Amino acid sequence: MSDFPELNGKTRDDAWAVITEWIQSDSLRKHCLSVETAMRAYAERLNEPVEAWGILGLLHDFDYERYPTVEEHTRVGSAWLREHGWPDWLADALLAHGFDENYPRTTLYDRALYAVDELTGFVGAVALVRPSKAVADVKVSSVTKKLKDKAFAAAIHRDELREGADEFGVDFHEHIGVIIEAMSANAEALGLAGS
Ligand SMILES: [Fe+2]
Repeated sequence: MSDFPELNGKTRDDAWAVITEWIQSDSLRKHCLSVETAMRAYAERLNEPVEAWGILGLLHDFDYERYPTVEEHTRVGSAWLREHGWPDWLADALLAHGFDENYPRTTLYDRALYAVDELTGFVGAVALVRPSKAVADVKVSSVTKKLKDKAFAAAIHRDELREGADEFGVDFHEHIGVIIEAMSANAEALGLAGS
């Protein structure tokens, strides 16, 4: 049951409080912030509700540190959100971001989330092997080159990155550029401003 983009009075600060309560890992917090950053950038580009998309990005993995298994991740978080007054659409979107075929990606924000989720991590990884360690110095071509290097960030499935962009309806190269630009604009918070 969708009530998008209602936030039931919840704010970005409330979402951040959830993150700091549930996630102790700095890298997982930064992952959530990176996905938020990319979701906000796409919402702006597409004239979609920026707060709603951003909060979805921020919260999408909030239960992962405590419930990392395929059976529990997103299910526990989704139920918790509903119990704590967050809107249904957000709880549903959490489920759709998992890999359960009972919860397909049906909305534009579902597809946006899937398209940016792993790619932000990959772009961050490319930034950290630049001499400057700054995401602003990452070029689209350096990302595509690293995508061909199977040993680099091997846990990130290349086919899922492309599938995500296709499903979202964006050109893959342009998509990488949007992510780099968005992350560069928020590099300090993401720990990718350079050394
Ligand atoms: Fe994620």
